[in-house]
Parts: sequence; structure tokens; C-alpha cells
Amino acid sequence: MLVTVVIRHQSDPEGIARHLEAHQAYLAELDQRRKLVAADPFTSRGGGSLILDVRDEAEAGHLLAREPYAVAGVATHELFAWEPKRGELARRQPLAGKVAIVTGASSGIGEAVAAALAQSGATLALAGRRRERLESLALRIREGGGSATPFALDLTEEQSPQGLVEQVVRDHGRLDVVVNSAGIMLLSPVAEATGSDWRRMIELNLLSLMELSRAALPPLRKTQGHIVNIASLAGRIANPSASGYAASKFGVVGFSESLRREVYADGIRVTVIEPGVVATELGEHIENVAMKEALRARLAHMEPLRAEDVARAVAYAVTQPPHVNVNELVIRPTGQER
Ligand SMILES: NC(=O)c1ccc[n+]([C@@H]2O[C@H](COP(=O)([O-])OP(=O)(O)OC[C@H]3O[C@@H](n4cnc5c(N)ncnc54)[C@H](OP(=O)(O)O)[C@@H]3O)[C@@H](O)[C@H]2O)c1
Repeated sequence: MLVTVVIRHQSDPEGIARHLEAHQAYLAELDQRRKLVAADPFTSRGGGSLILDVRDEAEAGHLLAREPYAVAGVATHELFAWEPKRGELARRQPLAGKVAIVTGASSGIGEAVAAALAQSGATLALAGRRRERLESLALRIREGGGSATPFALDLTEEQSPQGLVEQVVRDHGRLDVVVNSAGIMLLSPVAEATGSDWRRMIELNLLSLMELSRAALPPLRKTQGHIVNIASLAGRIANPSASGYAASKFGVVGFSESLRREVYADGIRVTVIEPGVVATELGEHIENVAMKEALRARLAHMEPLRAEDVARAVAYAVTQPPHVNVNELVIRPTGQER
């Protein structure tokens, strides 16, 4: 039978924080023994709930007697029968108990990915610069029964990637998924390109993704987590007038494959997603007027992908069983030739 355990904290946040690590170890052991179906990510600020798969309530009581918060006297437990069958729950919430960082969550692909992962039960850390956009997405996720926190930051600032990972792990005690979607595309022929546009693209699209991936490795090792990098078709096919963008995206593809081969033995999975044209704000930031027009004209002749189409691919990759590592996905609009 399935039982829901509501855990109510009794003490000050410091008391809970002291036992968070022991609690996470206890959950990992339940998971290994196949007794844990889902767990809220616990924070030092509030309580949470678990769903256990047990023979009867006596077995649940027996397991819970060892739960570190209860042993330390800082929380109480309350048990409820859980109605849906295990299969139904697993289908609805394959990422329950998992914590995900999504960059570029204030618009486009990142926003759609964050919403999709939240629907699958993950707790979200939403990163980007525009605070109000992140807050409104976090609110939408919470209204839908999920959990999300905005992190308004510029990922190209030196301390941002490391600081983001540290804060998320402090808040939730774990990290399972990182989706690097923040990016800019500033198109122009090489002869007209500026060094500052190239630097902006390399610093955000490539270096900040590399920094965030590195910062995430220690917590991802503990959870056998997953890094998903949103590259581009421009990381496989270099078109004229896209030299700086292509350089950054070829870089992402190369970095991701090298990283995969370094961390596969730790159980960490790495996925690169290479979308063709997606209808988002990406083209709005192009300053070269001719390039901006050319992109608009191209879009008018095809039905582009929607951000949600790419989000489904990310959700597919991160909900595979642990032995399945989806490494590379190319997704074009049907009407796009190259
Ligand atoms: N749209 C396409 O056709 C397409 C195709 C292939 C690949 N991609 C890739 O998909 C990813 C997402 O792009 P998108 O199409 O969803 O475009 P988008 O809507 O413009 O999203 C880009 C995101 O990056 C964030 N961002 C920009 N500069 C940042 C910075 N310095 N620090 C933190 N966040 C920053 C933006 O948020 P703030 O402005 O709030 O910071 C925004 O959320 C990009 O890597 C892009 O290269 C897009």
C-alpha cells in the first residue's frame, strides 16, 4: 500500500538544517530499498511530505521511527492512505523529489522547459536577469501545485554560476538536473561583426554554461544527476553570417561530449539538444538590421518549432531510467531543410 507521510517541523530552522543531511541519507536508503515513491525536497524553512510503498501502516511506522528529524525531536509525522495506484503516480510525477536549475527561464525555451519539469514534479530554480518574468513564472508554477524559486542574475558575472548552485543546494539539500538554456544570437557577417558581440555570445552561450556545469558536478555526483545543454543546429551546421554564434554552439557540443566522457562513470548523464528554428525572442536582440530582416523573412516561410516542442524533448531525456543516457537530439521544424 501507499501512505503519505506529512512531516511537520517543530523547531527553529537551525534545528532542521542540522539534520538535513541525515534526512537526505535516510531518504536515499529508503529509495534504494524501493520503499520511497516520492519526496518533497525539504528545506530548512518548512515541512514536507513523503509517499512510501509499504506492506501496511505498521511497516511505515517502523521505517519512520528511524527518520532523523523525528529521532532528534524536531519534527512530527502524520500518516494518510494514498489513493492513486503507484503506476498512476509515477506517470504523473516522474521527477517528484528532484531539484532542477533551468537557466534562461525568463523566456522562450528555458521558460517552457521549467514549466514542463515542474509539471513532472521537479522543484525549480529559475535563472535569468529579468526578475519580474521569473517571479511570474514561479507564481504560475506554484499555482499549479509545483515549487519554484526565481534567481535573478547575470550568468556572465564571475561568481554567478557557482553562487547559484551553492544557494540551491543550501535551500534544498540536493541538485538533480541542470538545463543550460540561457543564450543570445547576434548575427552578422564576419567583416561587419564586432568583437564585443562575439565576446557576449562566447561568454554567455559557452563559458557560463561551462562554469555552471562545473559548479554542478559535486552535487550531481551525489544524485547521479543530469546536465542538459541547449546547443543549436548552428552547432552542427555553420551558416554564413552566424560565425560567432556557430563558434559558441560548436563549443557547447564539443564541451558536452568531453564532459559526458568524464562523468559517465559517476552515473551523471549529459544531453545536448540541437533545435532548428524556434519561435522565441532570440532574434529580437540581433542589432544588424539586414540580418534581423533575413531571419524574419525565413520565419515567414515555415512553421517554426514552439518552445514547448523543445521542452518535451528535454522532459523526455531527463525522465529516462538511470541506465539510459540520451546524448544528442536534433529537432527541426518539418519545413526546415538545413
Ligand atoms: N530560438 C531558436 O531558434 C533557437 C534555436 C536553437 C537553439 N536555441 C538556443 O536556445 C536557448 C534559449 O533561447 P530562446 O530561443 O529561448 O531565446 P530567448 O527567449 O531570448 O531566451 C534566452 C534566455 O537567456 C537569458 N539570458 C540572456 N542573457 C543572459 C545573461 N547574461 N544571464 C542570464 N540569463 C541570460 C534570457 O533572460 P534575461 O534576458 O531575463 O536574462 C532568456 O531567458 C539559447 O541558448 C539559444 O541559443 C534557440
